[in-house]
Parts: sequence; C-alpha cells; structure tokens
Amino acid sequence: MLSLKGQDILSAKQFDREILLKLFKLADELREEIREKKVLSYGKGRVMATVFLEPSTRTKLSFQFAMKRLGGDVIDFDVTTSSLAKGETDIDTLRIIDGYEPDIIVLRQRKPLFPMKIKDLIKAPIINAGDGWNEHPTQALLDVYTIWRVFGKVDGLTIGIMGDLKYGRTPSSLSYLLSKFNDIKIYYIAPKPLQIREEVLQYIDGKIEYEIVYDVTNIIEKLDVLYVTRLQKERLPDQSIYEKLKGSYKLTADLLQRYKKIPIIMHPLPRTWELDTSVDTLPQAKYFEQARNGLYIRAALIKEVLGL
Ligand code: NCD
Repeated sequence: MLSLKGQDILSAKQFDREILLKLFKLADELREEIREKKVLSYGKGRVMATVFLEPSTRTKLSFQFAMKRLGGDVIDFDVTTSSLAKGETDIDTLRIIDGYEPDIIVLRQRKPLFPMKIKDLIKAPIINAGDGWNEHPTQALLDVYTIWRVFGKVDGLTIGIMGDLKYGRTPSSLSYLLSKFNDIKIYYIAPKPLQIREEVLQYIDGKIEYEIVYDVTNIIEKLDVLYVTRLQKERLPDQSIYEKLKGSYKLTADLLQRYKKIPIIMHPLPRTWELDTSVDTLPQAKYFEQARNGLYIRAALIKEVLGL
C-alpha cells in the first residue's frame, strides 16, 4: 500500500484503492473518537497553514476544524490584509509561509496546476484544496467517502455527474477517484458546452465505463447517485455563456418524485439555481451530510500525511 506520510496531495490520481479504504475506515474511527473526546492528541505540537487565494467556506473551515479536533494548531493566511495587495507574488508568499516551518500547507489557488509547479520550492507537504478548474482531490475524497458510507461499498455503482463538468474541478477529481474502484459506470450529464474535459476521459478510459448524455430525465432510474454541480460563473471565458446556460439543468423535488427509483443526491456546494431547496427534505438528499463528512476524511488525511 502507498504511504501518504510526508507526501504532497496534489491530485486524486495519486491514490489507490487500498489507501482509500484505509482513509474511509480511519475517518469513521476518528468520527467516533471526536464524538467521545472532542479534542484528540494526535496533532499535538503540529501546525497547519491554510492558504486560500480563492474564496472558500467548507474546504477551509473543515480543514481547520479537522486539525483542531486532532489537537493541532492552525495558522490562517488572510489574503485581504496580506502583502499580495502590495504586489507580492503567490510564490514568494508561499516561500515565506513555508520558511516558518508549518507541518502542512493547505493551498487553494486560481491557476490550474499551480501547486504542481511550485511544490519543489516548498518543504512542507502541500494539500491541493483546488487549483482553478483542474482538480480538487480532497473534495473527491469526501464525495466517495459519502458514497461508501451510504452504500457500504463503491464497487458496482452507477453515478451520474451533472452540471458544469468543463469548468468545474470536482467532476474531474471525482472521476479520477472513482476509477480506482471496480465496475463503476459514470453518466456525464451536461449541455454540450459544459461537457467533461477530454483529459478526464483519457484518464478513465479502460478503467471505467462511461456515457455522455445531455439530459438527466431519461436515465435517472439507472443511477445510484446523482452528483450535481453549479455553473462556474467566475471561470467562464465570457459571461454571455452564463446567461445562455443558466437554468439549463435543474433538479427539483417535483421532477425527482416522478420516478419510482430516486438516486441519492449529492452536491459539493455552494449551490445556485441547479438544486432547488425543495429537494432538501427528500431522504435521498445527502449534500449536508456530505459536507460534514469533509471534516472527518480531512482529519484522516492530515493524520496520514503527518504520519501520526
Ligand atoms: C467546490 C469548489 O470549490 O470547487 N466547492 C467546494 O469546495 N465544496 C465547488 C464549487 O465551487 O462549485
């Protein structure tokens, strides 16, 4: 099995099935321990720096909560009051933070592949918390961990990924992670201009079965999971695309209740118009639980990367 100790976590591609199952079980164990003891002692004396150069709610907070619950400390880089405003580069900023010797750096940045490009300049292990439209490996961890908790397995499931598959970073990382399991089928559901990127299909080709569809209504009953994502307004090359595609896919309780079999509904959040709040009360709505799972799987990941 792979060891994650001291490793940068840059891509969902770098995990294997064994380490994933180990992380899922560890996350469940930590959940129990945290429930009992509130604060654990694994992380004592260790410091995590969170450096978010793009907005975040869940990812940053769940990393911070996870480190605190492990008994470690967190230093947050505040982008609004930093010298970035004076023109300092992101690379210099990171080299300075790294010089203070954090045990781990959690990094979100706007440019795709940024963490891969700077990793050799940075001593601390880097966890990629989102690099532009490219990847969001720890989101994929909590997504698949949620699926594993609901179904007790991941193998053999049929998963629909619907929404902005082109400019979003969660569909790519989720696809990479699912490709580590057996007998998975993915339906990519999106209007043509938002369909999944070619590099994702190239990676999963031969590992999992997939189909590209443009509308969810004909395939809902084939799905065990329907994973919805928002249109990434801030990443579109041209805002007229947003106006054109706004509302082009949308899930409501009314729509779902027309079917005999309703898949579980997941969403990385934040949501906009694509996931109506009427869905929230269906037993299949799992997205708030999914966000909560982020804390425990990130605690498990931190523990493994720090070798605690
Ligand atoms: C996602 C992200 O940042 O890519 N959010 C998250 O981390 N939960 C999804 C999104 O912003 O649409």
